[in-house]
Amino acid sequence: MHYALNTGSIGVFDSGYGGLTILRQIRQLMPQYDYLYLGDNARAPYGTRSFEVVYEFTLQAVRRLFDLGCPLVILACNTASAKALRTIQQVDLPQIDATRRVLGVIRPTTEAVGELTKTRHVGILATQGTIRSHTYDIEITKLHPGVRVTGQACPMWVPLIENREYDSPGVDYFVKKYIDQLLFRDPEIDTIILGCTHYPLIMNKIRQYTPAGIQLMPQGDYVANSLQDYLRRHTDMHERITQDGTCRFLTTEHPFTFKENASVFLGQDITAEHIDL
Ligand code: DGL
Repeated sequence: MHYALNTGSIGVFDSGYGGLTILRQIRQLMPQYDYLYLGDNARAPYGTRSFEVVYEFTLQAVRRLFDLGCPLVILACNTASAKALRTIQQVDLPQIDATRRVLGVIRPTTEAVGELTKTRHVGILATQGTIRSHTYDIEITKLHPGVRVTGQACPMWVPLIENREYDSPGVDYFVKKYIDQLLFRDPEIDTIILGCTHYPLIMNKIRQYTPAGIQLMPQGDYVANSLQDYLRRHTDMHERITQDGTCRFLTTEHPFTFKENASVFLGQDITAEHIDL
């Protein structure tokens, strides 16, 4: 028997506001599609949570986005991509619906970094969970043998951003601290991956405390290009995504707070709806 495949929006998931930095670039490149953003702000940050908890929360979000009709979900969160993506792809998807897809943000980033580094010394700034998973080191070493990877956890950055302290003097202290620690451990680094989707929200501060010769690599453009490429190659998926150019925002926190912050981050006025997972 042949069942008609569902159609719907591209789901974009993050623990909080970070995924907006990915959504912004994806929408800029492909404004024709419909998008459904889900931020689990009530339970952010994920970065210090255990593997089991991040997996459980991420699976709940993916299931919800599927229930809301998304044929394709982007985990716009490195912590979730590092800790939950593989299990969801290999174990859960075949049981839930083998025709749907879940993609992460780490692969497009690691593919691109080999072209950018000249010294072959790469730094990663990310959450504790992402650093401890060693996903970046493993992926980069596999794709670009000989590149040395040094990871630095920045456990204070996401809480500062989620609490809207991204412009306060406290941020300067912690931004400088983690960048100095990273470069102390490997002074030959010439490329730093911002391996957490929240970090572009404090890009000005990060740039301010990074020596001028070092290039910073936020992920949005790489993820957007990789998704465009994926949809060109998978025309069946492209056809399942509705194309009215809309974008809906869901949050597990108070929708007014989300609306206020997201509107600042995106530079456009949005509305948000509350959702329980
Ligand atoms: N934006 C998520 C990431 O890319 C962050 C984290 C968090 O909730 O700690 O890792």
